[in-house]
Amino acid sequence: MSAAPLLSIQGVTKRFGQFTAVDRMSFDLNSGVIAGLIGPNGAGKTTLFDTLAGLLRPDEGSVHLDGHPIHGLVPHKVCASGLSRTFQIPRPFPEMSVLENVMMVPLGQIGEKFWNNWFRPGKVAQEERQAKEQAEDIIEFCGLTRVKGDQAGSLSGGQLKLLELARVLMADPKIILLDEPAAGVNPSLMVTLVEKIQELNARGHTFLVIEHNMELVMSICEPIMVMAQGKLLYSGTASGARKDPKVLDAYLGDLP
Ligand SMILES: Nc1ncnc2c1ncn2[C@@H]1O[C@H](COP(=O)(O)OP(=O)(O)OP(=O)(O)O)[C@@H](O)[C@H]1O
Ligand SMILES: [Mg+2]
Repeated sequence: MSAAPLLSIQGVTKRFGQFTAVDRMSFDLNSGVIAGLIGPNGAGKTTLFDTLAGLLRPDEGSVHLDGHPIHGLVPHKVCASGLSRTFQIPRPFPEMSVLENVMMVPLGQIGEKFWNNWFRPGKVAQEERQAKEQAEDIIEFCGLTRVKGDQAGSLSGGQLKLLELARVLMADPKIILLDEPAAGVNPSLMVTLVEKIQELNARGHTFLVIEHNMELVMSICEPIMVMAQGKLLYSGTASGARKDPKVLDAYLGDLP
């Protein structure tokens, strides 16, 4: 018996004026995979993420998560449905501490509703305490405890990638979309990052990872989807991607 896919993308198209950045993309992802999404610069990978995460509305097509439609939902609703993403360029609040940045994320935090501060102050304090404990656990998991009081703006490129991951984890998503997690990350932090992805995957999180670092993609991602000029060229194993003529053509004969 084959399980229903966790994420189902059907005919997703995103145009900017006359230009079609994502062109009828369709693929399914099963729960439990670490899938890779590769393709040359400008292929439409980040635009697809923006569309899945609700930052952009698809012009056509549908996206289902766990059988529920999520296309057209605003980002925080998509996140509440179980899909969270990191940004290609990390977007922390630079003046705030690492801990504060991670704590900014919890969904439905009761303290956000101002009247609760008046009528249910005990409840708010309790939720804030829980959010802080959860944030501290996640910060420890991501190896950022030493810098948790530092301003996010002072972190290295690799630490910022880990902070992005920490922020995503606060929402406890079913599927995590990572946009170039290894870009600008030094080799030792890269090992940490890969270990964290694999550990989270073993705990049941599904991943879709955009990455130009082929070593990372080929070693941890399966299946691999290859995109070029907005279209899906290939979906399958890493070794199959290396031999596929359309893929080689898109990379001008040479995978990076
Ligand atoms: N807001 C926008 N308005 C107009 N064109 C855009 C917009 N965002 C992206 N594009 C264009 O859409 C195409 C796909 O861009 P996208 O950022 O999705 O590519 P990518 O595959 O993520 O590339 P990279 O590997 O360099 O990050 C590019 O030609 C880009 O210039
Ligand atoms: Mg991109």
